[in-house]
Amino acid sequence: MGWSGVGGGHGSRHPADTSSSSSFPTPRPTLGLDQTYYGQVLKKSADLQTNACVTAARPVPKHIRKALQNVHEEVSLRYYGCGLVIPECLENCWILDLGSGSGRDCYALSQLVGEKGHVTGVDMTEGQVEVANKYIDYHMEKYGFRTPNVTFIHGYIEKLGEAGIKNESYDIVISNCVINLVPDKQQVLQEVYRVLKHGGELYFSDVYASLELPEEIRTHKVLWGECLGGALYWKDLAILAREIGFSPPRLVAANFITIQNKELESVVGDCRFVSATFRLFKLSKTGPTKRCKVIYNGGITGHEKELIFDVNFTFKKDETVEVDEETAAILKNSRFTQDFLIRPIEEKLPICGGYTALETKDKITDPFKLAEESDSAKSRSSPDVAGGCCGTKKC
Ligand SMILES: C[S@@+](CC[C@H](N)C(=O)[O-])C[C@H]1O[C@@H](n2cnc3c(N)ncnc32)[C@H](O)[C@@H]1O
Repeated sequence: MGWSGVGGGHGSRHPADTSSSSSFPTPRPTLGLDQTYYGQVLKKSADLQTNACVTAARPVPKHIRKALQNVHEEVSLRYYGCGLVIPECLENCWILDLGSGSGRDCYALSQLVGEKGHVTGVDMTEGQVEVANKYIDYHMEKYGFRTPNVTFIHGYIEKLGEAGIKNESYDIVISNCVINLVPDKQQVLQEVYRVLKHGGELYFSDVYASLELPEEIRTHKVLWGECLGGALYWKDLAILAREIGFSPPRLVAANFITIQNKELESVVGDCRFVSATFRLFKLSKTGPTKRCKVIYNGGITGHEKELIFDVNFTFKKDETVEVDEETAAILKNSRFTQDFLIRPIEEKLPICGGYTALETKDKITDPFKLAEESDSAKSRSSPDVAGGCCGTKKC
C-alpha cells in the first residue's frame, strides 16, 4: 500500500498545512490542507489551475440537471467537485456529504430525498459552511418543504464522531473531490464504514493517480490544493476497501484531468490523473451469495427505462440479467432490493424482455482504461452528446 496513511498515523504536520492556528474547537495535530485555500484563495471554480475540480464525467440525467439548476447561484459558483455524486433511489434517504463545501451537492440531494429524507454536510472550512448555511431558507422555500431537511456542520471528516455523527445512521455517504485532500484516507473510510447503515453505500468522486506519487508531488502546495498532490494510487482503493470491510469498488465513471499550467505540468512529469466515481457498499455478513438472475422493475425515479449501475452492469426494465456473486449480494442487501426480482441462476423465469448472460470477459475496474475509452468515444461523437455537465456555470 502506497502512502495512504502518511501524516495522520505519524503525528506529523502535513507539508501542505500552513495554518498556524485553527478556529475549530479541537486542536488537530495534522491538517491535510490549509483551510484558507477553499475559503479565501479560491473564490469560484474558475480560479482553479487544473480541471480536476470541475471535470464532468458523463451525461447528467434530466431530473438531476433540474435539481442542480435549482441551487442558488452563489452556492454553485463555489462548487469545486470533480464528478457527479448523485446516485439513484434516493427518496427518504439519509445522506452525509463529506467535505460539502458551499453545499451544491447537498442542496441538489435535499430536493431529491424529499422532505422525509435528510442531508448533512460536513466541512472544515468555515467560510464554505457559512455560504452553505446562508441559503437553507432559500432552498426550502423553493422546494416547498416546511421543515428544513439539510444541516451543515463545521468539522473534520476523519473525526465524524466529534461532529456528532452516530454509528449506522446514514443510508448513503457521498463525497466530491475531498478525500484526496485528507492525508489519512484509511481513517476517513473507516469513519464512513462506522456511520453507514448495513446495506448503505459510499458513492464518491475523487482524483486518482496512475502511480504511487513521489514526494515532490505530494509535498507541492498548489498541487495539493488543486486535488492532485494527495491523489490515491488507484489500485490502493481496492486494498483499503477490503481492509475496512467494504465490498470491492464498483467503477461508475472516469475522466482524465488536464493541467493548464506549464510549471505544474513539469512537476507532475509522467504521472497521469483521473477523476473517477466509485461506489462501495457496506454489506451485512450473511454468508456467501451465489450468482443470480435479476429483473429490474423500472421503479427508480429518473431511471425508469434503465439503471446504469456501474460500467459493467446496466439493468434495462423487465430484462433478465445474470449477475455475479458480488453484484447479487449488493442487490439483495441494499436499498436496491425493492426494485429487483432476484432468483437463483438455475431457476426458469418468464422471459418478457431481453436476456443478458454473465460475460466471462474481465470487468473494467481501471479508471484510466475507462477514461481512455470515454475519450475515444467523445472524439467519435458530437460535443452535445458526449459533453455531460455538472451543472456549474463553467461547463
Ligand atoms: C475540492 S473542495 C470540494 C467541495 C465540495 N465537495 C464541492 O463539490 O464543491 C474540497 C473541500 O473539502 C474540504 N475539506 C478538505 N479536507 C477536509 C477535512 N479533513 N475535513 C472536512 N473538510 C475537508 C475543504 O474545506 C473544501 O471545502
